[in-house]
Amino acid sequence: MDTRRALLDALAADDSPVSGPALAESLGVSRAAVWKAVEGLREEGFAVESTPEGYVAPDDPGYSGPGIAFGLDAPYSVEYRGRIGSTNERARELAGDGKSDVAVVADEQTGSRGRLDREWVAPSGGVWLSVLTRPDVPTARAPLFTLAAAVATTDAARHAGVDARIKWPNDVLVGDEADEADESDADNADPTGRGGRKLAGILTEMEGEADRVGWLVVGVGVNANIDPETLPAGATSLSAQRGAPVDRRRFAATLLERYAELTASSGALDGVLPAWRDRASTLGRRVRVDTADGVVEGTAVDVAEPGALVVDTDEGRRRVHAGDCEHLRDAE
Ligand code: BTN
Repeated sequence: MDTRRALLDALAADDSPVSGPALAESLGVSRAAVWKAVEGLREEGFAVESTPEGYVAPDDPGYSGPGIAFGLDAPYSVEYRGRIGSTNERARELAGDGKSDVAVVADEQTGSRGRLDREWVAPSGGVWLSVLTRPDVPTARAPLFTLAAAVATTDAARHAGVDARIKWPNDVLVGDEADEADESDADNADPTGRGGRKLAGILTEMEGEADRVGWLVVGVGVNANIDPETLPAGATSLSAQRGAPVDRRRFAATLLERYAELTASSGALDGVLPAWRDRASTLGRRVRVDTADGVVEGTAVDVAEPGALVVDTDEGRRRVHAGDCEHLRDAE
């Protein structure tokens, strides 16, 4: 672990000031190295205070690399950028350099990418992040990481007071059942008819052999503190849903911690599908899925490893591995 991250963890673990010599001893580094780490953190905007008794972390560590890393219970280093083309691109670059276990986080993206080569609008105020890992799992299980990210994002949104659900395969939405219950509620209505307003999307990219993942980048885009008017039709944001801005630092940390927990091991991955089912708005609904092999229409009854939607159609049961899913009104 690098000294700055270790120093942040040590400060997070202690409510009272921690002296330079005590830090040097607990981290197993020189006092000069502690001082250098403190200076580095301050340069990155993390205001470590000096008191006569020692160093103290700021009350609000801020939305920055060290701020997000402060007290983070997940095995990632955090690379923060105010503005970047795409956090997924940056994470792929880091993968090319042999890196792993890095979360790239940005305030604004100027060239961000969505699924199916679509543009993704990512102005300042969102939570735009990509997690680079090298999990020791067969390539066939890789889709579980996307589902895990959807679960983690949903949990972080709920933690922030927003009742989010997952639409297969990996859209995090607000609304849906509510839309049908009260079509007259203009603020809740779903203008796209696709099952709610979109809060977040996920784009996973990977490289690997047939039987092993080489690297995996899971990119999550969350409309956090953004006016929905500036977003594409059908989108919403955490701030619009809560009526107040969300603490992005806490939100990002919750998301990363939950993702790390769900993907920690093969055994942990076994828990992803049950968690996904619990948070899904798609199951039990009539759906139309546009796939590369044509349209599949019917009732979504389950999700199966590694993330296929199981649909009961007039022609029998189908498993759909990829496609654009639309929730239909029962009459449709
Ligand atoms: C979707 O189409 O629903 C997926 C959108 C994914 C957007 C995120 S924002 C962070 C990461 N960087 C990118 O360029 N894309 C993903």
